[in-house]
Amino acid sequence: MSDKTYAPSAAFSVAAHADKATYEKMYAESIADPDAFWGEHGKRIDWIKPYTEVSNTNFELGSVNINWYADGTLNVAANCIDRHLATRGDQTAIIFEPDSPDAPAQHITYKQLHENVCRLANVFKSQGVTKGDRVVLYMPMIPEAAYAMLACARIGAVHSIVFAGFSPDALANRINGSAAKLVITADEAPRGGRNTALKSNADAALLHCNDKVKCLVVKHTGGQTTWTEGRDIDVKAEMATASADCAPEEMNAEDPLFVLYTSGSTGQPKGVVHSSGGYLVYAAMTHQYTFDYHDGDVFWCTADVGWVTGHSYIIYGPLANGATTVMFEGVPTYPDAGRFWAICEKHKVNQFYTAPTAIRALMAHGNAPVEKYDLSSLKLLGTVGEPINPEAWNWYNDVVGKGKCPIVDTWWQTETGGHLLTPLPGATATKPGSATLPFFGIAPVVLDATSGEEIHETEAEGVLCFKTSWPGQMRTVFGDHERFEKTYFSDYKGYYFAGDGCRRDADGYYWITGRVDDVINVSGHRMGTAEVESALVAHAHVAEAAVVGFPHPIKGQGIYAYVTLMNGIEPTDELRKDLEKWVRTEIGPIAKPDIIQWAPGLPKTRSGKIMRRILRKIAEDDYGSLGDTSTLADPGVVDELISTRIELK
Ligand code: WT7
Repeated sequence: MSDKTYAPSAAFSVAAHADKATYEKMYAESIADPDAFWGEHGKRIDWIKPYTEVSNTNFELGSVNINWYADGTLNVAANCIDRHLATRGDQTAIIFEPDSPDAPAQHITYKQLHENVCRLANVFKSQGVTKGDRVVLYMPMIPEAAYAMLACARIGAVHSIVFAGFSPDALANRINGSAAKLVITADEAPRGGRNTALKSNADAALLHCNDKVKCLVVKHTGGQTTWTEGRDIDVKAEMATASADCAPEEMNAEDPLFVLYTSGSTGQPKGVVHSSGGYLVYAAMTHQYTFDYHDGDVFWCTADVGWVTGHSYIIYGPLANGATTVMFEGVPTYPDAGRFWAICEKHKVNQFYTAPTAIRALMAHGNAPVEKYDLSSLKLLGTVGEPINPEAWNWYNDVVGKGKCPIVDTWWQTETGGHLLTPLPGATATKPGSATLPFFGIAPVVLDATSGEEIHETEAEGVLCFKTSWPGQMRTVFGDHERFEKTYFSDYKGYYFAGDGCRRDADGYYWITGRVDDVINVSGHRMGTAEVESALVAHAHVAEAAVVGFPHPIKGQGIYAYVTLMNGIEPTDELRKDLEKWVRTEIGPIAKPDIIQWAPGLPKTRSGKIMRRILRKIAEDDYGSLGDTSTLADPGVVDELISTRIELK
């Protein structure tokens, strides 16, 4: 942590949507009278029937209920497309940059976006998709992914995107979990010069689903796929003959826009449900203010649409604001570590938003790949997904931003829909490693982790909670409102509990210290340790498994698995590889353990509870502070685990 501050330049502040005085004034107003504030800012989007009621929210366990603009009606796709047609129909909405640097980029105007979205919406309709139905997307980062999201929004269907790195099993669970009518995928997803066979993954998943589920296939690479007549549909062929007119469905503000599955500390991933009205207002407003987006700017968020960052800051926020948004199919290091910067130069990117893990990975290649390119178009840099270490922050600031671009370290979650803690670049002096201050209308509090009491002193350390709602907040867990209440509102009564620990410094700045639950953050991807454990124990040779996070130089956190084998099974390198492969197929490549340590036994309390605190310390190579081990049933296992601990190679 560093306490060096970087104030915005006077030139930046003057031209920005908010300077310090504006931020302070608007923030004070937003807290003093949230309904007046959000009533006003809700008007930034177009309503079919304007709302008369702004918020109706309750954080009380047993009656948790979140409504914004509840009597208003709108259509999200019309807000992201149609309303721009008169003024910016020929402006580029989406710049698509393919995986291969030799393939041509595509510039899709708002008019073309309209046509494509309408055509695809009509294809969905022709397959029987109607308002309220769920559609699963399992897509590469190609324009059709954006069309599919917006086509769902246009007809009132609820999309659920499954990141293309997830396995067939994970895909099947999500198709079944949301009772989707249709899956849209592509033949193959090219990334870093290699093609992932998405369609054959979808085929494998669909074996476990209702046979009425249709499979729409975008023939993207033209790679060979098997074809199931009557179930599989060639999307491009259908779009070519579908009508280019499709009237947007009138939706209630509280109708769900999408479901996105995310990992928690227990059980299977939960379907986070986001609304239409409040979500769009919040995504659009944060996009404008946090990135200081101005008309004509080219905005690039490097996330995948499979994560919430892609939903809010590649698609909904930027398009609601009439922006030009970049969609990149590839990876930062292909064909070499200069690719991000080549794209920034090529498309004259103005705001660039990525994750600390990507910054660290690129930093390891030195400055030359950055210095090769003209980055003078860049005005602002952003990060998201995990705490950024000051070394990475400084490199981003000095080498990429040449000391001229404010850095916004944005803290938020799948659940929050948009940024909650973030600098505003024309207003907030930044400190490397701090997500700084709350966005408008956000009321963070630091609670003492054990007593649950609010710490009122400015300097505080504890768990991060929020006192009141904001329009972008998730509304429920799909199909399980009780789980929603239990997960977020039961540990600290009356508050939304984020799952993160934090420190507030003397200036009131927030420093996120990481998750306080059994969720780990691997390369900015969220993983429940319980999920990886249940994948491991599903293997025939595994008796027991415990998974913890450990500090990883590039990924932020790595996955450390302690595995106890069935009696009589030999711990071999081959079995270790087999287990790694097993987890990849059960969940996906992102869940592959970095380290598997054979554990003849696991440290347990006398009542049989695994003491993860100790396992975490061993994985972190920090035995000095193992704490009290006297309650262990067999303290000897700890020494055994320490002596056989495995170092990251
Ligand atoms: C968790 C949410 C929302 C976008 C991507 C991740 C961690 C997120 C930051 C940040 C420190 C951060 C938190 C949070 N996190 N942004 N700027 N500084 N930590 O979304 O998968 O829902 O994960 O990511 O631990 O709880 P997600």
